[in-house]
Amino acid sequence: MDAADVDGDLVEVLFTEEQIQQKLAALAMQIETDYAGKDVLLVGVLRGAVMVMADLSRALGRHVEMDWMAVSSYGSGTKSSGVVRILKDLDTDINGRHVLIVDEIIDTGLTLRWLTSNLASRNPASVEICTLLRKPEALRTTIDVKYVGWDIPNEFVVGYGLDYQERYRNLRDIATLSPSVYS
Ligand code: PRP
Repeated sequence: MDAADVDGDLVEVLFTEEQIQQKLAALAMQIETDYAGKDVLLVGVLRGAVMVMADLSRALGRHVEMDWMAVSSYGSGTKSSGVVRILKDLDTDINGRHVLIVDEIIDTGLTLRWLTSNLASRNPASVEICTLLRKPEALRTTIDVKYVGWDIPNEFVVGYGLDYQERYRNLRDIATLSPSVYS
């Protein structure tokens, strides 16, 4: 889906498909350098990270393994509690592995802080985070993020995996959603 297909729902396109691909290529180059000579397991966080995982992994000119986790906050409306439930765990034993968590956005940071410490307890060689977007103003915890595509303002963004009520994930670009859609 292109921005033109849902033009009335969007305020502004922040990043086009082309800009996203260029950013992922740059991140992939850094990752190749940093992990030279090491095995890497990319761990995607369902569902939003599907697009980033697909494109970042293909931008890498080296072998990687991929696995997925699905997590959810406990209860409803308690995302800010930072307590997370695993809906789908890894199929891979990460003991001694270099793990790179791949996500599309860090908002409060609570999900990935919990996930990082959960994975770290499984005795991996390393755990790092790669996120396409981060909202510095929304952060509610300190979290070490090795690879960040862009820092963005604290606005409602959709597209490229990011949803509003499960829609807009298949938008090619990343755009701010018009308040008329969600208010
Ligand atoms: C998004 C994103 C992160 C999390 C970040 O997932 O993929 O995992 O929110 O938020 P936080 O920094 O405030 O913890 P979401 O819960 O929207 O699920 P989805 O990936 O299925 O859309």
